[in-house]
This record gives sequence, C-alpha cells and structure tokens, in this order.
Amino acid sequence: MSTSHDTHTASPYDITGTEAWRALAEEYRRVEPRHLRELFASDPQRAQRFTTQAADLTLDYSKNRLTAETVERLVALAEAAGLREKIDAMFRGDHINITEDRAVLHTALRLPRSASLVVDGQDVVADVHNVLDRMEAFATKVRSGEWVGHSGKSIRTIVNIGIGGSDLGPVMAYEALRDYADRSLECRFVSNIDPTDVFEKVHDLDLETTLFIVASKTFGTAETLTNAKQARTWLLEAFNGDEAAVAKHFVAVSTNAQRVADFGIDTDNMFGFWDWVGGRYSYDSAVGLALMLSVGPDNFREMLAGFHAMDEHFRTADFAENVPVLMGLLNVWYNNFFGTSSRAVLPYSQYLLRFPAYLQQLTMESNGKSVRVDGTSVAQSASGDLVQTGEIFWGEPGTNGQHAFYQLLHQGTKLTPADFIGFAQPNHDLGSMHDLFMSNFFAQTAALAFGKTAEEVTAEGTAADIVPHRVMPGNRPTNTILAERLTPSVLGQLVALYEHITFTQSVIWGINAFDQWGVELGKQMALQFEPMLTSAEAPEYTADGSTNALIASYRAMRGR
Ligand code: F6P
Repeated sequence: MSTSHDTHTASPYDITGTEAWRALAEEYRRVEPRHLRELFASDPQRAQRFTTQAADLTLDYSKNRLTAETVERLVALAEAAGLREKIDAMFRGDHINITEDRAVLHTALRLPRSASLVVDGQDVVADVHNVLDRMEAFATKVRSGEWVGHSGKSIRTIVNIGIGGSDLGPVMAYEALRDYADRSLECRFVSNIDPTDVFEKVHDLDLETTLFIVASKTFGTAETLTNAKQARTWLLEAFNGDEAAVAKHFVAVSTNAQRVADFGIDTDNMFGFWDWVGGRYSYDSAVGLALMLSVGPDNFREMLAGFHAMDEHFRTADFAENVPVLMGLLNVWYNNFFGTSSRAVLPYSQYLLRFPAYLQQLTMESNGKSVRVDGTSVAQSASGDLVQTGEIFWGEPGTNGQHAFYQLLHQGTKLTPADFIGFAQPNHDLGSMHDLFMSNFFAQTAALAFGKTAEEVTAEGTAADIVPHRVMPGNRPTNTILAERLTPSVLGQLVALYEHITFTQSVIWGINAFDQWGVELGKQMALQFEPMLTSAEAPEYTADGSTNALIASYRAMRGR
C-alpha cells in the first residue's frame, strides 16, 4: 500500500528517509533478478564468505539472495538507524520502553555474579543473583525430597500455571531440555482459561505430591488467577479444607507481592522479578522455576551462561559478523524489500517442538506495531510506502513439516524465507537415524536454494506434459544454524539470538518492541461481555449486531 508523499510527517525514526534505505532499494533491483545458482557459480568462496559464528552457533547465510555489497548496505542501514547506540542504551538500562517508562534488562538476568550494573539506583546484578540463589535452594529441597507436601510426601509433579510469557518460555525450555531432566519429576503446564486445560492437566494427579507454581508477572491475568483458584479449590478438597496445605503446595512467581499475598500465597514462597523484564523475555528469570526444578540449578545456570555468551556477542561483535544483527537485517531485507510477510523457523530437533510457538510471542508481540517510538504512523514515510513491520513467525520441527507445508515453500507463489536449526550430535543416537534425519536438513536447504530446472527434469525421462509440475524453481532463501549439540547453554544462545534479532528489527523500524497495548482491548471487552453470557435474565445486548446475535445463539445452546 502506498501513501502520498504529501502525507509524510518527518520522523527521526523513519528509516526510509535515509540514504542507506535508498541504497538498499537500488540494491534490491540489482539482486532480485539473480538466482542463487548463479550467485554460487560466480563466487566459489560464497559459503565461507557468508558463514559466521556466535558462541557455539554457526550461521551459514550464503543461501540468501544477496551479495557482499548487499551485506555492506544492510550494515549501513543498521548504522543509520543508530543500532549500536540503541544496543548500548538497552544494556545500560535506559528507559527504552518509553510507553511504560521502563528499562529493558532481560540481559541483566544472565549477567555473572561478578558483574555490576546499577539501574535507577539499584544493583540489579545483586537482586538477580539473590533470587537465583533462593530458587536454587528451593529447587534443591524439592528435588531431594526434603520439601514435602502437607501430608509429608515428597513432590512428584509440578504444575506451572501461567500464560503468555509465563507459560511459553518455561514449557518450550522444559521440552527442549528433557534430556537433562530429572525424569522422576514431571512438569505440566496449564495456561488456557478453557476449563479443559486445567481439568486435563490436574484431574489424574495425586495432589498430595503436587506442587503448583502460579507464574504471573502482574498477578492480575484472568486466565492464570482463574486456573489457580480452581487448582486451590481442588487442593483444599483433597485436604478436607485445611488451608495450611496451601503453603506447602503453592508457590508464586511475580513482580507483585501484594497481589500474591491477597491470593493467599505466603510471600516467603514467592520468587520475584522486576518490571524491567518483559513477560516474553522472562523465562530466564524466576519464571523459569519449573524448568530449574526439572533440570536442576546447574543446568539452569549453564543455560544462563549461554544467554550471556550471545548477549556479549551481540553487544560487541562488528555488525558484519554479528549473527543476531545479520539475521535481523536479513529479515528486514525480505520483509521490506522483497515484500515477504512471514518467516518459517524449522528446528531439526523434536526437543524444539515448542520453539516456534515460543518465538511467535517473542517476535510478534514485540514487533506487531504500526506506530513508531515518537507516535508517528509507519504509514507516514519518506519513501511514500507503508513500512511493513512485525513479520509472522511460524514453524514445526523437521522432518514433520516436510510432509505438511514444505510443498508451499518449494513450489508455492509466496516467497517464505526460513531458518533451519540443526545439531551434529544427537541426544539419542539410534543406529543411523540421526544421519538420515540430518541428511534431510541439508537436502531441504539445497533443494530450496537450487531447485531443479526443466532441462534436469526432462533429462530424467519425465513426460513433457508433466515437466512443468516437477520443476523446482529454487531461489528460496534460507539461513542454516548448526550447533554441535542441544545443551542448556546452546538453548540459551538460541533464545538470546532471537531476542536480539527481534530488537534489531524493531530498531530499524523505529518501533518499541517492549510494550503490548494491542492485547488490552480484547481483554477488557471479554470482561464486559461475560455478564451478557451468564446473566439469569435476558441480558441487555450492548455489543455490535453480529456479536449480539452470536451471544444470543450461545445462550440458547447453553439453555439460558
Ligand atoms: O496478554 C499479554 C500478556 O500481557 C503478555 O505480554 C504476558 O506474557 C502475558 O500476558 C501474561 O502476563 P502475566 O505474566 O502478567 O500473567
């Protein structure tokens, strides 16, 4: 969609007004007609030239539609956007989340104990390690059986009750690090206010050996509080109404001690974090308590060290070798110049089953914005075009995805760049299965990049009328991230990588990646609508015509 140049309001955050943006628009015209086959043929060093390293992750980005000149121009774009200064401002604790007047310091959650960072007069490193130490002491007691439930039995099941950032990170990491878990301790995750969720996760449990973690940054989220109240009711039923059981079976993770106390959880059993940790950036805080209980404090701390290694790379590496910066810039390259709207993230690890879902909140809640930091609309731009923000992230582990949606990636009309993530060493080596698995990983990116021409298809003896159907166009861009093994550290590195990719994109687009006002309206309306659904008398229908009629039908089906 284009808007007229006349409507442009000059914004210092409008990247399209920079020379760097114009240079990339010109670069797009030069690069777009070229095929990856030709780009590889013309540069025997291409794979080496476009491979770089961050901590334990190797990124090969040579199968992207770019030349060395493109990379230079993308790096110039990052400089024009002031990315270096903005990285420094974030790590320093400036209040870069301007709509909530908050620092953004998830990077402080993984600073080593010896580091120092004072923000708003507070030593945040000391605070972080104080909570980590308390989590460790608690986790050690639960894991050793020293912490017992109200009837004296040790804990066998942890139920984490939370939603969004208080669920997606813990559950993703719990699945990712199953191989490091104490298998005698099961974790379950309740998030949805759909009553079937809490029912299915709790109904078959022995509540005498169950610990509930109520995780909520605000401790005001309807889903979490509703599920937690239900769990509390069942717990009290199991203990014949003995309120003293709550202290042994409920702990809280929150920034809001008062609300935790109001709910009835002893604040001695609360693990805190701070308003400078965004929900979707929080599972390396106390929000990761369920994970720590599962994998143990040492593995949790190893994961934090992995996060920190990626933070240091992001903070210090030259942009031309900086993996999060390069990947963020590539996302901008396709999103804003090639006009793509989504990116597939395809982990070749069943353990990373929930990684794409986790990334959806991280990236889309962060960058799904259409107003810049200074309040100007991204529709008002010097280029005259609406500046597309907020890519759609999606994906599934390979090889499952290959038998589902890869057809569209290979031969569909929509260009969909993809990140392939794989590991050399399997967590479980069963005969030749891992090599077979990984041969798929390598085959897919090669097929996407180079395809198969009509001549090649014909030479295989394919009937002429079938040839067009079997031609593989290729020229489909991918990144390949390869690491030796999925360890706690590597998981931390991967998550920090995508956090910083997200930040890089937000800086280019001039938007605030750290608020989420867009989710509020629906929440408020749900509260307003509830009485219309439940009132004993015919309600006063106050919604729009469509919604009123739907609610009336719903009431009829519910016999109201
Ligand atoms: O509704 C969105 C959101 O605010 C997320 O940003 C957040 O992760 C989630 O809800 C849960 O919030 P809380 O941890 O405060 O319960």
